[in-house]
Order: sequence, then C-alpha cells, then structure tokens
Amino acid sequence: MMKEHDFWNKLRILVTNKCNYRCPFCHNEGQDKDNSADVMKLTDFISFVDFMKDQPISELHFSGGEPFLNHEIVDMIEYADKNTTWGIGCATNLSRLTDEQIHRLANTRVKFNIQFPYADKDDFHKSTGTGSYSHIIEQITKVKKAGIRIGLNSVVQSDDMKHIQNLINFAIKYQLPLKLLPQIGLDGSDKFKELIYPLLKETSIEVKDKGTGALRWIIEKEDKQTVVLYIDSPCFDKDITECREFGELRVHPDFTLQPCILRSSNVRLNLQEGKEKAIEQMTCLWNDFKHC
Ligand SMILES: C[S@@+](CC[C@H](N)C(=O)[O-])C[C@H]1O[C@@H](n2cnc3c(N)ncnc32)[C@H](O)[C@@H]1O
Ligand code: SF4
Repeated sequence: MMKEHDFWNKLRILVTNKCNYRCPFCHNEGQDKDNSADVMKLTDFISFVDFMKDQPISELHFSGGEPFLNHEIVDMIEYADKNTTWGIGCATNLSRLTDEQIHRLANTRVKFNIQFPYADKDDFHKSTGTGSYSHIIEQITKVKKAGIRIGLNSVVQSDDMKHIQNLINFAIKYQLPLKLLPQIGLDGSDKFKELIYPLLKETSIEVKDKGTGALRWIIEKEDKQTVVLYIDSPCFDKDITECREFGELRVHPDFTLQPCILRSSNVRLNLQEGKEKAIEQMTCLWNDFKHC
C-alpha cells in the first residue's frame, strides 16, 4: 500500500517550450508549440525553489522543450542541488551540452534521462529530424565518464518489436537503464506491453511492480545486466488514484501549473505575492486533483 501524499510529490519544471529536435510523437509536456519562445527565468526559478523547499516534495525534474536551450539551466540545477534535498532529474536530448556544462554538472546530483528513440543511426536521424546518433553516443560516453548518472528514455511508437529488441540490446551492451514509454496520444499504444513483456521475460532475472503503473525488469545477457522500466501511463485507463500516487505537477515557464498533461490549466502562480500565497495555490490544486 502506497503512502497517501498531502502535497505534490514531484515537480516537473518546464524551462522552455522550444526544441531543436522534431520528434513526431512529442507531447511537449502539454506546452504550445507556437512560434513564441517561452523561457523560464533563473530569478523566478530561485524564488519558486525558496518557496517550496520545506514542502514534502521528493523529486524535481527539469524538462521542456529541450532544457539546454535555456541558457540558465546549469545555474538552475546547481541552485536546486545546493538548496534542496530533493532528487534531481533532467530529461534532455543531450545534443547541446558543452564540455564545460558537463564538468559543472558532474559536481551535482543530477541524473539525465536521455531521449533516445532508436539504437540505429538512420532511424535515429529520421525520428529526431536534426539529431546525430554518433554525436549522442559521444555525448553519452563523456557524460558517463564525468560520473553523471544517465538513463535512456524511449517512446514506443509502433508494434515493431525489432526496434525494441535493438534498444534492449543497446541498453545491456552499454549497461544503461532504459525506460520504455508507450506513446501517449497514439491509438493502441496501451497494448504494446502485450508484445514487450514476453520480450523482456526472455532475459529477465527479476521483475517488480512499482505500484505507480511501472514494471521494473532486471535483465541479463552474457554476464551484463541492466534495468528496464516499462511505464504504463495512468492516462490510458484514466486512473486518478495512480496519478495521485505519482503526484507530479508540471510547472510551465510562466509558472502556469498543469496537473494533467492531457488538460490545459488556467492556474498560474504569482510569485510576487509571496511564499504563503504560492503554497496555498499549490495546495488547492492538489486538493482539487481528484478527476481526470
Ligand atoms: C517532452 S520531452 C522534453 C525533454 C527533452 N527534450 C527530452 O526529449 O527528453 C520529455 C520526455 O517526454 C517523452 N515524451 C514525449 N512525447 C511523448 C509521448 N507522446 N508519449 C510518451 N512520452 C513522451 C520524451 O521521450 C521525453 O522522455
Ligand atoms: S527532444 Fe524532447 S522536446 Fe524535443 S521534440 Fe523530442 S521529445 Fe520533444
């Protein structure tokens, strides 16, 4: 039995709506993909963290758009690292990270979740529009060498299991954790698990139900092990209980708060009104988050 939260458990901070990739499946975390760039300011992020740091939050995840298109992202991660005890993650396509940024981030506890659609050069390029597979492999090598934790995120876009098998082989070869995310918004993607579970079973030595809609498989091949997480989105069954157990709130660059990725929100934090008002708005939103 999971513990009931009385506040948001995870914050997903969207530091920009812009991206340099063109992934066809991208939900952009519920943000508009119009022409105007929304970019979160470091000063606002700092106020927000200062307001929230005593709340029972366990994780903060940076996302976007591509977070590294926001020039203040490293300062934000460093600030969260120094001023909170929360777990810190960053979803990124890794394409724009400089050596200097890698060096600075190696001194923080950030973990990267890398958008990695295919373990194949041509498919990778086609899927991302502008991405280079070999560049990303180089980036992964550098980031790992710097000691930054890293995992792969892959959106399952079809029932072609050849791609999934390639990804699993890649994850085992490089001993990288892999998250498989059935595409939200694609008809039939709730059924992909019926094909993927048997694949994982072939090499699995342990499987655990995380209770938040995710199954965690430990897989092993030729003495190498890795972890594969299959995330069955609560959106597929409109399972509000599971969603509340996960307890994740999206915070847009202008501090609009979005409890559900499939629904827009009109609640916006006014940071100028201070800490108490911000916490009150966040608490109200949590207490109202009872329906999809
Ligand atoms: C929107 S991206 C933004 C951060 C960064 N650009 C990246 O791709 O990691 C955040 C995460 O959402 C996932 N994602 C995007 N569209 C999705 C969809 N339709 N269904 C499930 N996951 C999706 C991506 O694979 C990525 O792991
Ligand atoms: S890299 Fe991330 S934000 Fe950019 S298009 Fe792909 S999934 Fe969307």
